[in-house]
Order: sequence, then C-alpha cells, then structure tokens
Amino acid sequence: MGYNVAIDGPAGAGKSTIAKLLAKEKGYIYVDTGAMYRGLAVHFLDQGIRADDVPAVIRAVEDARVEIKYEDGTQQVYLNGNNITSRLRSEEAGRMASATARIPEVRKKLLMLQKNLAKEQDVVMDGRDIGTCVLPDADVKVFLTASVEKRAKRRYDELKEKGESCDLETIKEDIRKRDEQDMTRETAPLKQAEDAHLVDSSDMTIEEVVRAIAALCK
Ligand code: DC
Repeated sequence: MGYNVAIDGPAGAGKSTIAKLLAKEKGYIYVDTGAMYRGLAVHFLDQGIRADDVPAVIRAVEDARVEIKYEDGTQQVYLNGNNITSRLRSEEAGRMASATARIPEVRKKLLMLQKNLAKEQDVVMDGRDIGTCVLPDADVKVFLTASVEKRAKRRYDELKEKGESCDLETIKEDIRKRDEQDMTRETAPLKQAEDAHLVDSSDMTIEEVVRAIAALCK
C-alpha cells in the first residue's frame, strides 16, 4: 500500500504548484486528476460534442482510452494512444472538463485509474474529490483554498507572464462559475472531507504552504 496524500480545493488555489513541490521534496509521485478530466474534455471538443449533450458525451466516453505515463517524472496523458498533454491547459479544455465532470459516466471512467495509481506507490494526488471519494483512506488530506480575488489575480499574472491577453474581471467570473459548477454537482462535488486539514493560502507564500503540508506528512 502506498503512502497517499490527497489535496482538494477549488480552481486556482495552487493545488498543482504545491503538490508538485511537495512530491519533489518527499519523493512521491504527483498525480494530477484534473488533467484526466481535461483529457476527456479534449476528446469531446475534438468530436464537436457539446457539454450539455449528455448522451453524446456518454457515447464518446466509451471509446476513449485514457492512459497516464510518467516521463522524466512528469505526468503525461495519452488519449487513444496519442500524447495530448500539451493541449490540456487551455481555458476551453478547463471549462469543458468542469462542465462534463458532473456526468457520472465520466467520473466512473477515471475512478479506477486514479485508485490504481495510488495503490502501489507513494503519491500526492490533487483534484476535487480525492479525500472524499477517490482515496477516502488517504494518510493525509488537505483542503487547499484561497479567496476568489487572490485566485483570479494569480491566474491573471500567470497568463500575463505567458504573454496571453486576459481580463481580470472575466477570469474572476470564470472562477466563480467553475466553483459553483464543481461544488453543486450531485456526483462527487467539491467539498472538504471531515478529516481534511484546511489550508487557506490567500495570505501565504508558496513556500509557506509547502512547509505547512510537508509538516503533516511522514
Ligand atoms: O484542477 P483542474 O482545473 O485541472 O480541473 C479541471 C476540472 O476537472 C475541474 O473544474 C473539475 C474537474 N475535476 C473533477 O471534477 N474532479 C477532480 N478530481 C479533478 C478535476
């Protein structure tokens, strides 16, 4: 049985940045479950399927083969044999992932894949339902959050640095919509597990957050 650290929280809370640093420091494998939902989202987008066309999404899930590989310690997502990792981070893929993650067939497709990754190896896994559904017996559970304003500003700075044009108000609105969508869905909504440690990173540096979580781990 691997040592399992679960980090859940809303979009833009810094989960992946923190989880990656923690994994490096502790020698765990970083498992990004959002990337798996994004992988299926790319599949739906490629087929021109709309998120509200649930029967079409369910049909498309059936012929999607998602595989996770680690190359130089970095997670790669393969869809039907093709490495689609470079396409996962677009806003379009994020929106589609959030909109289709509420469909039980989509979640079911990824659940065993996620559980199996954590079975044999030490992992830090981030997502929305890791502490509540995927790894209910995780050794350490963290609910990482931050104010909408701080999360939007971080995303804005990130996009600016990449040279992409963006608008702070639009990003804020997008984050609010995603929070609402992720927290109110019926299947595996985003919520803090009863035994999770709450970490609010609004006024913490990345280093401080990593230190706080590392102190909870073996
Ligand atoms: O963490 P992210 O932004 O890459 O995730 C994209 C979307 O995928 C997110 O808005 C909701 C969904 N998701 C989920 O429902 N459950 C997870 N464990 C991870 C992501």
